[in-house]
Amino acid sequence: MINDNAIADKVMKEMASDELNLKKVVAEKAVDDYIKDGMTVGLGTGSTSEYAVRRVGELVKSGFKLKCVATSERTADLAQSLGIELCDLNDVDHIDVTIDGADEVDPAKQLIKGLGGALLREKIVAAASLAEVIIVDSSKIVEKLGVKTPLPVEVVPYGHKKTAYALERQGCKAKLRMSGNTPFVTDAGNYIYDCKFESIESPFFLESRIDVIPGVVENGLFLNTADAVLVSHPDGTVTKVV
Ligand code: A5P
Repeated sequence: MINDNAIADKVMKEMASDELNLKKVVAEKAVDDYIKDGMTVGLGTGSTSEYAVRRVGELVKSGFKLKCVATSERTADLAQSLGIELCDLNDVDHIDVTIDGADEVDPAKQLIKGLGGALLREKIVAAASLAEVIIVDSSKIVEKLGVKTPLPVEVVPYGHKKTAYALERQGCKAKLRMSGNTPFVTDAGNYIYDCKFESIESPFFLESRIDVIPGVVENGLFLNTADAVLVSHPDGTVTKVV
């Protein structure tokens, strides 16, 4: 006899596999639509981007000549394991297309990124890209930024509690991201505070306030960064916001 726990477990597994498939669907469509032979490509970070990196790996295996720039050590490790040629950002003129995930997307294509901890490199790579293509499933679409997820802010470890205090004066609850019993450390050796606002009414104003706080390295607001957002829906379709 199947008990309630077993049913709940099955439902959770099905939900998880649905979610994974939606990430895969949108990631593969983005790679197939945007990546052409000979391009320099930015590889994003996160569970959705991982599917894109795997698809790029398939293109490379099929004979595409691509130069790629990774937005994190984690993505670099995956890319290397797939035989993808990686370049230092300093060694390329520009990046043709970067495909990356996001945590929230509003109707104006403004984004929150960084729950995966790679916001600093992601923002640098996005700025060097001719086109930034964002891939999400429809659960990431919000009317206003900040309603679902906290805003990640990368800070230097020195005096980080004072930095957090200044962040909270912007109207949020700032929580130091942990990895077990110690602070999570980014690829650049910094900490992250996840800043929960009720909602972010004026993203540009908030960004200008956060960026002048001493100790802040980068924030997870990606404003006017996305050139296109591809969204996968529960019925398996993908729509594009440009
Ligand atoms: C990484 O730092 C993030 O910006 C990710 O792109 C973002 O968190 C989306 O990740 P998932 O695709 O895993 O939801």
